[in-house]
Amino acid sequence: MPLVTSTQMFKDAQKGQYAIGAFNVNNMEIIQGIIEAAKQEKSPLILQVSAGARKYASPIYLKKLVEAAIEDSGLDIVLHLDHGEDFEICKACIDDGFSSVMIDGSKYPFEENIAVTKKVVEYAHAKGVVVEAELGKLAGIEDAVKVNEKDATFTDPDEAVEFVERTGVDSLAIAIGTSHGAYKFKGEPRLDFERLEKITKLLPNTPLVLHGASTVLPEFVKACNEFGGNIPGAQGVPEEMIRQAANLGVCKVNIDTDLRLAMTAAVRKFLIEHPEEFDPRKYLGPARDAIQKMVQHKIKNVLGSSNTLK
Ligand code: G3H
Ligand code: 13P
Ligand code: ZN
Repeated sequence: MPLVTSTQMFKDAQKGQYAIGAFNVNNMEIIQGIIEAAKQEKSPLILQVSAGARKYASPIYLKKLVEAAIEDSGLDIVLHLDHGEDFEICKACIDDGFSSVMIDGSKYPFEENIAVTKKVVEYAHAKGVVVEAELGKLAGIEDAVKVNEKDATFTDPDEAVEFVERTGVDSLAIAIGTSHGAYKFKGEPRLDFERLEKITKLLPNTPLVLHGASTVLPEFVKACNEFGGNIPGAQGVPEEMIRQAANLGVCKVNIDTDLRLAMTAAVRKFLIEHPEEFDPRKYLGPARDAIQKMVQHKIKNVLGSSNTLK
């Protein structure tokens, strides 16, 4: 079973008003937990690899792990580059066999974003690979990029139309108030659904992507903190808001922070409760189970993609 692109997945998701989860992967336990969840829920899925993940695990290991996951599970899987910062990293991933890449030119002015996105689209499409781009700027922290709240800008609907037309991009990440990491809102959580509706109306055939979509469930923050962690004031996007976004045309939802919290909570709990243990399998096993449980919860209760596998 080869890797697949997200083209048909997104069409089905748009029609069915659900979203496909795009989960960040960094090691074997994370990949196995996600795959088992998708298998149990009979859900399509996207595995995404950031530049930081490529550096941590080395590209060859992640690629081989994903190939093993496909062979073992028989699932159709999209392998996606998350936040490719320039043409070179997108090209490297396309040449490595990824089926989807993101060129994140959101840090550039409009015309430069268009130019770099177009260059990636031309290279990718010639090789049957699909491309996600970003217009507007999310706040928050990733490995390579840190955007202050005051520098974040929401996506302009008219610019989005021009951007899609001129680049030929396959999907578009938009900024409507989410942000990366565990600290998403200082006050009340608020997403600009009016803006989202406008963009969907103007671009009915363009799959939209929501980054920074972790819900940061208080029980996982509490579990980390109960076992020696210190993650004060974390706040995610309420689950109902993600569901509403999926109803309004978002068909790819990016989730990383929630996996980190679930995994860390499980490891912390195990080590505190079993101070005599030092076999990594003993704490990475529960961590893998925690990832699976979290991803199944997302698929079933937040994204609505259970039982949609063709
Ligand atoms: O949005 C970015 C993801 O959370 C990846 O994070 O760059 O630390 O791997 P990373
Ligand atoms: P979170 O930090 O909300 O999980 O977002 C992840 C993301 O957008 C990856 O691209
Ligand atoms: Zn992101």
